[in-house]
Amino acid sequence: MTTPSTDPFDLRDRVILVTGASKGIGRAVSLALARQGATVILSGRRVPELEQVYDAIKAAGAPEPAIAPLNLESLHWDECQGLIDQIQTTFGRLDGLLHNAAHLHGLTPLSHFPIEEWYRTLQVNLNAPFLLTRCCLPLLMASRDASVLFSADSTGRKGKAYYGAYGVSKFAVEGLMQVMAEEVESNTPIRVNSLDPGWVDTALYHRIYPERAHADLPAPDAVCRPYLFLLGPGSRGLSGQAFSVREGGPWSE
Ligand SMILES: NC(=O)c1ccc[n+]([C@@H]2O[C@H](COP(=O)([O-])OP(=O)(O)OC[C@H]3O[C@@H](n4cnc5c(N)ncnc54)[C@H](OP(=O)(O)O)[C@@H]3O)[C@@H](O)[C@H]2O)c1
Repeated sequence: MTTPSTDPFDLRDRVILVTGASKGIGRAVSLALARQGATVILSGRRVPELEQVYDAIKAAGAPEPAIAPLNLESLHWDECQGLIDQIQTTFGRLDGLLHNAAHLHGLTPLSHFPIEEWYRTLQVNLNAPFLLTRCCLPLLMASRDASVLFSADSTGRKGKAYYGAYGVSKFAVEGLMQVMAEEVESNTPIRVNSLDPGWVDTALYHRIYPERAHADLPAPDAVCRPYLFLLGPGSRGLSGQAFSVREGGPWSE
């Protein structure tokens, strides 16, 4: 039996599912996780983009990833269960689940918020992460120590005008994180946290501020370290916490 590494960023032998792995923060974190030795299950709705991430991981000499196409907008239990069965057969467990995918309509006052966009946003950002987490529980229970990480946003910690369903979905995700963290605290190997990456130069940011200059924004690569820490062995024992890249945390020590 090998001695466990004391490096908090050593992700060897960890199987981690990342949603929204096709671009932005999800792509950068997937590559960073793989470089640290994790086997990453790349999930998203566009297979060609996921294949590009797959190729980049292979080119870096990292462990071979897997691709799990899922459209969170139409996700239903049977589809989720099919993915879980595949992970069970191939890996037998899940050590990490990063809920990174998100939908944002753009800044709109509630008085004009399109009703179908409201439902779409809550489906992608809240209902689908709940469904996926519920489905993944037996796989997470089979891990020695598993980390579930929700993507947060400052607009889901203090209400901000015009963020509409996106802001509300992020408030709800914090609630989901807290409820789950309490439920799994004492009798499972699972920890649950949320992380706000702060403003990052991605398509989502440009949907909010299409006109705003972004030269000073960090690139997705610049925010990977906290994700690696919270998904890796360094965060064992931390649960139920709302972290923020801007405020710093145990990953900076
Ligand atoms: N960027 C920021 O400034 C910022 C700030 C605070 C919080 N965050 C959070 O960080 C996370 C990542 O955001 P990002 O900035 O990297 O955004 P992004 O570049 O727009 O990427 C979003 C990802 O979600 C996927 N996605 C969207 N709808 C989906 C659906 N229906 N089914 C499956 N996948 C879907 C996208 O896939 P496609 O390629 O198919 O569109 C993409 O991979 C989000 O949870 C966001 O709320 C970001």
